[in-house]
Amino acid sequence: MEYLLDTANLEEIKYFNEKFPIVGVTTNPTIIANEKGDYKKIINSILEIIGTEKMLHVQVLGRDAETIIKEAGLLKETLKGNLYIKIPVSDEGLKAMAVLKKKGFNITATGILTSQQIVFAAQAGADYMAPYVNRADNIGGDGVRVVSEAYEILSRNKDNKAKILGASYKNVKQVHDSILAGAEAVTVGSDVLKQMIYHPYTDWSIDKFESDWGKVYGNGKNLLDIL
Ligand code: G3P
Repeated sequence: MEYLLDTANLEEIKYFNEKFPIVGVTTNPTIIANEKGDYKKIINSILEIIGTEKMLHVQVLGRDAETIIKEAGLLKETLKGNLYIKIPVSDEGLKAMAVLKKKGFNITATGILTSQQIVFAAQAGADYMAPYVNRADNIGGDGVRVVSEAYEILSRNKDNKAKILGASYKNVKQVHDSILAGAEAVTVGSDVLKQMIYHPYTDWSIDKFESDWGKVYGNGKNLLDIL
């Protein structure tokens, strides 16, 4: 299972990169624009934090295949890291994916709302396909079902290596259900990612360990004081 962080906020990236077992960061034009800073500076700072092994997914803006291919080339030339080029699924997007795949680019298909878009992107050569689970739910669809149907179809091809990267989450249940439905990877914003490991009874247990121990071995002491 792969967990990625869906943000371009440097403080959040520092925090989760250090404390959570994330394998990369995903961005899109909205996420980067939210930071209101110099584009290149933001991307390079993210790479400085996560290093060159963890994945960085960066999206193109072009609407036609030619521009998308040029943007992808420039990104690869300028940025030193484990780059995945995010391309929204459209006719021109699929065309660009096929060309870029042949040239050896890593590709993430994005902006996905249906299971057929996932399957077409996989056929075009995408390594990851990102269904927008919450956006599907918001318009009366079923984001988790998009994941499960696509997973079922892709599983018929034993050679399939393309992974479903669930995205656009507003709560832990959407993430958890997507994983059960077949998403091999999920990208999650910082609020929901934090909630993924939160349980008040766990916090209560940690407090109880400390106070029970303290009554016998001394408050505030830990194993460093004893061993
Ligand atoms: O990774 C996709 C994601 O950023 C879209 O999320 O919350 O804007 O629907 P949202």
